[in-house]
Amino acid sequence: MVYITRKERFNAAHKLYRAEWSEQKNLEIFGKCSNPNWHGHNYELFVTVKGEPAADTGFVIDLKFLSQLIKEKVIDKLDHKNINMDVDFMKDKMASTEVLAVAIWEQIAGPIQSQGCALHSVKLFETENNFVEYFG
Ligand code: NI
Repeated sequence: MVYITRKERFNAAHKLYRAEWSEQKNLEIFGKCSNPNWHGHNYELFVTVKGEPAADTGFVIDLKFLSQLIKEKVIDKLDHKNINMDVDFMKDKMASTEVLAVAIWEQIAGPIQSQGCALHSVKLFETENNFVEYFG
């Protein structure tokens, strides 16, 4: 089994809050990410696909296909957007890195499967020091 990873970047705004909680409680639980007037992160996304290299091409997956898929289904929807308000696949969800990583997986797993390989992991960095990994 060979693992291949495509790295992408996007910038997006969000806030973490629950409307039914007070501003004080939101601040206690979510810290700076609860700022009522939003804030942004420079996200880094690593999409890892696993499979056997094809006999004819030597590829696990055509990276042109993979980069185009991630661009259409993920980056174009998130880059320079407000995750809470603008992103169809994040509607009514918490805009946390954990929830976002799972939602990104759901956007791309099916089309990757159709290429005869499998999505192995989605790794999403919110900051240099904080990242999430999801394995389905
Ligand atoms: Ni934040």
